[in-house]
Amino acid sequence: MAKAAPWRFAAVASIMKPRTRVNHPPKVHVPDDNRPLVAPVYQSVKFTFDDVEESQRQSRGEREGFQYSRVSNPTLRQLELTLAELQGRDACLLTASGIGAVTLAVMGLCRQGDHIVLFAESYQPSRLVVRKLLSRFGVKHTLLSIDDLDAFEKNLAATPTRLVLFESPTNPVLKVPNIERIVAAARKHGALTVLDNTFAGLHNHGQFDIDVFVHSLTKYAAGHGDVMGGAVIAHQELIDSMKSDAILQGATLDPHTAFMIQRGLKTYFLRYERQCFNAARVAEFLEKHPAVAQVRYPGLGSHPQHALAVRQLSDMGTIVTFELAPDLEPKAFANALKIFAIAASVGSTESLIQPGQLMTPRDLSPSERDWSAVSPATMRLSCGIEDETDLIEDLRQAFEIASNERKNE
Ligand SMILES: Cc1ncc(COP(=O)(O)O)c(C=O)c1O
Repeated sequence: MAKAAPWRFAAVASIMKPRTRVNHPPKVHVPDDNRPLVAPVYQSVKFTFDDVEESQRQSRGEREGFQYSRVSNPTLRQLELTLAELQGRDACLLTASGIGAVTLAVMGLCRQGDHIVLFAESYQPSRLVVRKLLSRFGVKHTLLSIDDLDAFEKNLAATPTRLVLFESPTNPVLKVPNIERIVAAARKHGALTVLDNTFAGLHNHGQFDIDVFVHSLTKYAAGHGDVMGGAVIAHQELIDSMKSDAILQGATLDPHTAFMIQRGLKTYFLRYERQCFNAARVAEFLEKHPAVAQVRYPGLGSHPQHALAVRQLSDMGTIVTFELAPDLEPKAFANALKIFAIAASVGSTESLIQPGQLMTPRDLSPSERDWSAVSPATMRLSCGIEDETDLIEDLRQAFEIASNERKNE
């Protein structure tokens, strides 16, 4: 009989009692020339060293390694490296959600008495992080319209400002601000720029001299609507300055979630391209439809910043926002859709709709609401990867139902 290879008896050779063994299972050796194609999930909170000295050396940064997953973890590390590289920077911190990334960035960079400039045209909870949360700790802010960069420049000249928080394209009405102008003004007056780049994607805007990018990974990076995550991406020095806050806030990602996001990234470009294609077809259809008062899509020649969008972005995005004609009932239209699901968030493989009634900017005054341009007739579509003709047919039949209801009134 052929002699069995020694590794086949590793478990049997144990001297441990069962109660001990279940807590110290047999090691499985994977030979160096036999690597897994997909990196395994390091679903371990703790990492051990053979002796105390090595553990101390790792804590002092004198050797590589990991200790505790709230601080660092190999699966998270792989995702951090991927995201930083995609965004054209060298460092990244992961958070449990996109809003966690916004909070980490603004809290990490501001001190009591600092001043932030932000805009009415932005994701409502991001505004609340500054206006409700940070204001409790003595951080001041000015809210402006991103349409008025003259007022923005004047404000920076008049008020010492620590950072400028903005989006492009903005959520939900897809305004495209001049990033070069924002960055130049911020630099001139010593303010940092924080760009929530979720809508444009990790592959856009890296060429600009932005200090910090934040992303909701819940959207395009993960892509399947089943996990949440966030990222703060910047040069190493800035990330280092925020790292201890990240550890103390404790809102890091679980390794399994990081693995799911890394897996989602494999199809990121395929999905994003397909979603942009669908969005363009949907925008063209909507622009010609009589039930639509206005379409906002950066790829359309009718978009007020179309030329700027073409200069700044490599693709025109997956979101199409439009205003329903005033004589149609927004709820009747949204309720009649069969493929577009009424749901929060964007970036899933499924197409989604968020009607204006579900995006009311409650924190804004009437004049600030005018800047935000969200009304009950505003419809934000997040285009998925379905067949574009099905999406267009779905919109067409919903317009018809909404129009018939109006006629029957
Ligand atoms: C532009 C933008 N930033 C941040 C967020 C927050 O992301 P999360 O839902 O992952 O917290 C969202 C969510 O919709 C968003 O649209």
